[in-house]
Amino acid sequence: MVIVKMQHLVLLVFVALWTVETSLSTPLCTYPPSQWCSSPEVAAQCGVEKQCLEFSGLHKPHTAPAPGVEVALYYESLCGGCREFLVLELFPTWLMLAEIMNVTLVPFGNALEKKNGSKYTFECQHGEDECKGNMIETCIMNSSKYAFFIIFCMESSSDVLGSAETCLKLYDPDVKWDTIMSCVNGDEGNKLMHLNAQMTQALQPPHEYVPWVTVNGKHTDDIQDKAMASLFNMVCSLYMGDKPPACSGGKKSKPKNYC
Ligand SMILES: *[C@@H]1O[C@H](CO)[C@@H](O)[C@H](O)[C@H]1NC(C)=O
Ligand SMILES: *[C@@H]1O[C@H](CO)[C@@H](O)[C@H](O)[C@H]1NC(C)=O
Repeated sequence: MVIVKMQHLVLLVFVALWTVETSLSTPLCTYPPSQWCSSPEVAAQCGVEKQCLEFSGLHKPHTAPAPGVEVALYYESLCGGCREFLVLELFPTWLMLAEIMNVTLVPFGNALEKKNGSKYTFECQHGEDECKGNMIETCIMNSSKYAFFIIFCMESSSDVLGSAETCLKLYDPDVKWDTIMSCVNGDEGNKLMHLNAQMTQALQPPHEYVPWVTVNGKHTDDIQDKAMASLFNMVCSLYMGDKPPACSGGKKSKPKNYC
């Protein structure tokens, strides 16, 4: 009995210390400790993300799920074939299979980069507007969790650049357009675009056209052809873990409610 009480006491002291430490560092936590690990948002607000992860780690299954299929698209914001692939294949596939795949978007493609003092200048296949579109999308990826939705929205619009602000408002109203624009026109965008250039220039084999797809870091004619023909089927067949219901034509999942 005494031992049990000691454990309670230790726990109480731990929680009390945790409370003090947390309330000092993050004054915006408005939840009682019992709710701190109830969601990632609450944990973040209360500054206890690490602790919550460690707790939930105790209950994680021992077998890790199979690694996701990594799909990277090297593209240009105003290239017709790129837009078609992104809008009609990549985005819908990702919507259906997000739990088993990872998407990396690298807008740069056939652009040219020149070093000019401490900055870089860029020349794009489809002109100035394309460079601006690449830069807006790069800055959005650096500022919004909903970047893929916003980029999909832009690329599916008849006016890729003109729709950007509306698309941002639609999918991530918390991010200010001004934030994106100061990235686009400032050093940060310049640095981020240089990273895109480096990633594109590091491709092995080097890209010959866009859209250029790598899957799990690899590019072959066969991979490219299969991705273009049906990315969805390709990701399903490459995933080594338990296939999600969408991969088996929905055979495993019966909808519980029809209207
Ligand atoms: C996607 O990538 C991130 C980081 O690279 C990784 O943590 C995550 O597990 C990946 N997701 C899948 C489905 O593989
Ligand atoms: C944004 O870019 C900076 C480098 O300029 C990088 O350190 C940071 O991790 C990026 N953030 C996101 C969310 O990608």
